[in-house]
Amino acid sequence: MSRDILAVGGRYDTNTILLHWLTAFIVIFQFLSAEFWGFFGRPEKHFLIISHMSLGFLLAAILTIRIAWRFTYGARILQINSTTTSTLLDRGAKVVHILLYALLILQIPLGFFTRWTDNQPLDVFGLLIPSPTAARSKATGHFVDQIHDVNAWIIMGLIGLHAMAALVHQFLWRDDVLRRMILSPRKS
Ligand code: HEM
Ligand code: HEM
Repeated sequence: MSRDILAVGGRYDTNTILLHWLTAFIVIFQFLSAEFWGFFGRPEKHFLIISHMSLGFLLAAILTIRIAWRFTYGARILQINSTTTSTLLDRGAKVVHILLYALLILQIPLGFFTRWTDNQPLDVFGLLIPSPTAARSKATGHFVDQIHDVNAWIIMGLIGLHAMAALVHQFLWRDDVLRRMILSPRKS
């Protein structure tokens, strides 16, 4: 049912491109907000934590739509097929994409439980969602926090690799790989 693109010069559809960049924006915001809220006083810090939870919830919805779209009507590039990469590099890129999807999906329940195991309700755009489980000890709260944090760093490492690869394609190899993830008035 999905539109598989094999030809060099093929590009992703508009919805896939918008969902990709929206995901990228939120993931980077999630990381930066968490790394920097410690430098702010109470009102700003509180605002950043609430924004982190609200955008985190939005990220869950966007990821669900993104994955459903990919497996139904969305364009999928089955091979990197840029004429410049080897099969090994193509496979490496695919592994990074699959890992990104998997670790982002994992980060969602980890985020929810980071809050709930601190015995606090999740605050999503002002709506308070209480924990579905009984109160947890400080040690459990700290443990879940740490897994969420380590997973965030692994995700950011993979994104660094992924973005660097996209830039190498664009500026060294000068092929179509980055262009197909960018909106263009030209039809695919
Ligand atoms: C910041 C968070 C980001 C995430 C989570 C992310 C995730 C992904 C995923 C999962 C795919 C695979 C799409 C699919 O086949 O379903 C993809 C493709 C792509 N991404 Fe990203 N990305 C991010 C940032 C970026 C950045 C900063 C760039 C460019 C500098 C970029 C450029 C691309 C390109 C060009 C493709 C298409 C690759 C291909 O057709 O083989 N992404 N991204
Ligand atoms: C890719 C997405 C995400 C990234 C990169 C990310 C990153 C981080 C990082 C680095 C921390 C700091 C951890 C520490 O120092 O202990 C954190 C804390 C937290 N995150 Fe996330 N997160 C993401 C998604 C989510 C989601 C989906 C939720 C829930 C809706 C969430 C809720 C929280 C909460 C509640 C905290 C602790 C806040 C506090 O200290 O009170 N995160 N996150």
